[in-house]
Amino acid sequence: MSPTGRPNPLRDPRDRRLPRIAGPCSMVIFGVTGDLSRKKVMPAIYDLANRGLLPPGFSLVGFARRDWEDQDFAQIVHDAVKQHARTEFRQEVWDQLAEGFRFVAGAFDDDEAFDTLRRTLLELDEARGTGGNHAFYLAIPPGLFGTVASQLQEHGLAEDPNAWRRVVVEKPFGHDLASARELNEVLGEVFPSGSIFRIDHYLGKETVQNILAMRFANEMFEPLWNSNYVDHVQISMAEDVGIGGRAGYYDGIGAARDVIQNHLLQLLALVAMEEPTSFDADSLRVEKEKVLAAVVLAKPLNRSTARGQYVEGWAGGEKVPGFLQEEGIAKDSRTETFAAITVEVENRRWAGVPFYLRTGKRLARRVTEVAVVFKRAPHLPFSEHSTEELTQNALVVRVQPDEGMTLRFGSKVPGTALEIRDVSMDFAYGGSFTESSPEAYERLILDVLLGDPPLFPRHEEVELSWKILDPVLEHWARTGSPEPYASGAWGPSSSFAMLSRHGRTWRRP
Ligand code: BG6
Repeated sequence: MSPTGRPNPLRDPRDRRLPRIAGPCSMVIFGVTGDLSRKKVMPAIYDLANRGLLPPGFSLVGFARRDWEDQDFAQIVHDAVKQHARTEFRQEVWDQLAEGFRFVAGAFDDDEAFDTLRRTLLELDEARGTGGNHAFYLAIPPGLFGTVASQLQEHGLAEDPNAWRRVVVEKPFGHDLASARELNEVLGEVFPSGSIFRIDHYLGKETVQNILAMRFANEMFEPLWNSNYVDHVQISMAEDVGIGGRAGYYDGIGAARDVIQNHLLQLLALVAMEEPTSFDADSLRVEKEKVLAAVVLAKPLNRSTARGQYVEGWAGGEKVPGFLQEEGIAKDSRTETFAAITVEVENRRWAGVPFYLRTGKRLARRVTEVAVVFKRAPHLPFSEHSTEELTQNALVVRVQPDEGMTLRFGSKVPGTALEIRDVSMDFAYGGSFTESSPEAYERLILDVLLGDPPLFPRHEEVELSWKILDPVLEHWARTGSPEPYASGAWGPSSSFAMLSRHGRTWRRP
């Protein structure tokens, strides 16, 4: 549907792409009771099945310390799918999928439970033809990765010469460089690096992948994509929600670790990297690593970074509590719910171009975008008055919501006077394509099952991102508390000062 709700007559309904369908396999989810499993992983599995992208015998095993039978687990998945799946509920799809549901009850250090898991997987191989191919999804705190990985190894589940075994881990990949390295070692003792799939769900988003298509499939952007023409880049990920029920995870982690270290630095890498020789995993990661290695923090840190913590205010017409009043948050917590940093990319292409990154909870609205802001024309052959309302040209990639791109440039206002004002040219996914975008988790889970790694950050990228962020975190740990900002606003004043000292302002998305 187009944004107007009417079908787009220009669309070609024939889908010429060959679907990528996973081969025989099963997936085990550790942490089935958590938010992530219910809101993202389970619905995505159903959506994949509904799109015909899972093999008929696909099986899903839940593992948790709950006194459940298979049917209790099936009910949990059912509720999650009904509530959060993207595609319509079809009974026949559900019935076939649900035949492959099993539940194994036990703690992560319980040998017996892992024996049962092994037997269950063997039984599924026999009964449903899953071929010994198993993906282990660790939707659990990173502190438990080691325990689960060694249990899988000890129970002969981590490798099989005739089948594939893969492990999927979620962020946070550590809380700093040292802990990320430790985590990597723990996993690396059990799984070869090619079998470890680190999820950064932003890379699964269509609009994020489109950054590469936009840059490298076209001729008109790339010639301008450098410090000769680009004034600066703004990468914003704003959320209107608070921390919801995630106090346990969020307190002590904060916005920089939660979002900048992964999602925003990955966005930066895609925007700033050189053209890869191909889009296979190695070529792509090499370019991302090169650019991340060239990223440096602007100094001094007290002016080139900003952090804040939301206090009570208004969201969606309702009064909402401040972060310190949220359930489960320490009353003296210094965790930031807003973080912004200024970095530069020290290479020939980007020398002198600041990249401003910001993220926050309880901001005015939910929006993620990358704005490439161009320099002003070197000369304007108009009177000053004519161009008073002309700002800088910008190309904005709207990651979400309202996915698309906007090009902002100056145009003459109709009339007898010569007056030039900003106008926008818009591309919206909804107006150009028949299919709605799959959820990031659909794409990423399918890639795991297919063993397709380009969209998964390699450990080196994770390390490089921590190297960028660690000095900021250390600086903040030494220097007082985050600045309060009202819920429903655009963050603390230090964030605005971070740009205004360079004579710039944040775009109001
Ligand atoms: C997660 C963060 O990675 O991304 C959350 O941990 C955040 O704090 C979420 O809310 C946002 O994801 P999305 O896809 O809604 O932008």
